[in-house]
Amino acid sequence: MKLASIQSRRNSIAKALSYIRQKNLDLLAEVNQSSFFKQAHPEFSPIGWHFGHIAFTEAYWVLNHLADLPLGSPEYSRLFAADGLPKQERENLPNVETIKEYLHSIRTKTLSYLANAPIEKQERLWRWLIQHESQHGETISLILQLHQQRNSIDSLIAVSQAQSRSSFKDQANTLKAQYSEMVKIPAGEFLLGSNVVEAQDNERSAYKIHLDTYWIDRYPVTCGQYYQFMAAGGYQKCQYWSKEGWQWLQQNPVSQPLYWSNSLDWIEHPVCGVSYYEAEAYANFAHKRLPTEAEWEKAAIGASPNCNHGRLIGHTSPVTAYPEPSKYGCQDMLGNVWEWTASWFDAYPGFSSYPYPGYSEVYFDRQHRVLRGGSWATSKATLRTSFRNWYQPNVRQIFAGFRCAKE
Ligand code: AVJ
Ligand code: FE
Repeated sequence: MKLASIQSRRNSIAKALSYIRQKNLDLLAEVNQSSFFKQAHPEFSPIGWHFGHIAFTEAYWVLNHLADLPLGSPEYSRLFAADGLPKQERENLPNVETIKEYLHSIRTKTLSYLANAPIEKQERLWRWLIQHESQHGETISLILQLHQQRNSIDSLIAVSQAQSRSSFKDQANTLKAQYSEMVKIPAGEFLLGSNVVEAQDNERSAYKIHLDTYWIDRYPVTCGQYYQFMAAGGYQKCQYWSKEGWQWLQQNPVSQPLYWSNSLDWIEHPVCGVSYYEAEAYANFAHKRLPTEAEWEKAAIGASPNCNHGRLIGHTSPVTAYPEPSKYGCQDMLGNVWEWTASWFDAYPGFSSYPYPGYSEVYFDRQHRVLRGGSWATSKATLRTSFRNWYQPNVRQIFAGFRCAKE
């Protein structure tokens, strides 16, 4: 490789690292003391832990693994390694200033190593690291939202009482036809997955698959549409739910998405904060089904990254706000909300763990479903149609909605 291209790759990596770091430090500025240290939900570590883990992961992979430097504090290794303490024991953290200093001191060494690094052999790992920090940034965003939601629960109730339910219902009816529209995807082969240097282990290797003709929603399911499911007693009638879903609902009684509002302003926004089970129940109610991840990815070919992402606006947007369609005419495939698919998180043929089995491979356990597309809080580093996210079907704290498909 030419020296110029080596240098331009180093520059591009340095730029991406500092971009995501600045985003995350901006987020940190919004975090108060108690949100920094306290778990918002048993499923998620405290925000402070995520920042320490970001720095530790960089120290581990760049300084130790690539640069062969000592790891430093064994205390931090224990505290911030993903396979260290259980989530409930991660509240005993250094203070904010100390963790900021940790982030900063690792980053300084990282950049000085990068200046002369043999990038032609390392680019995949650097690209992985950038995406690692990006993904933790999204998790921090949602934890922050959980803290804030808890604080503002009273104002939420006030909003919902102020709005007349009947006007919501009328509006929802009027908009129903537009947003229920489906797009026909013709039968044929396409390339699933990706082999670009940024592609995660679980996106590889790209391979050709054939799909028969199917239909998929042009837009993600909106709050207006979902309201009709709620109004029809969706959360009370077991007929719409899978056996596992109904069992989950009985043990976790809920009656609306986690990030729900009855305000008319949200009626054209996608549903956000639903579990896989709720998405599946809605699809049954609508006489549709959830798409497989392959159906989702084919429908997303050509989707524009000019979309609601990166916390640029700070919340969801109406599903028509970014009108550039995919090749087949679907909208809002990238950004706004993650979309649950019917697929288990499984390995593609020829899968090989990278950089460690705990990244993807240990989750190929038929306990996790794939989500696609990214949300309003997903940063550009992971915003691509082949990117696979995964969560257990009961998780609804993430910025997740869905769209439906049918034969
Ligand atoms: C793919 C978002 C589920 O946050 O648990 C971060 C990404 N893996 N560090 C997670 C991840 C290791 C992962 N998700
Ligand atoms: Fe991590």
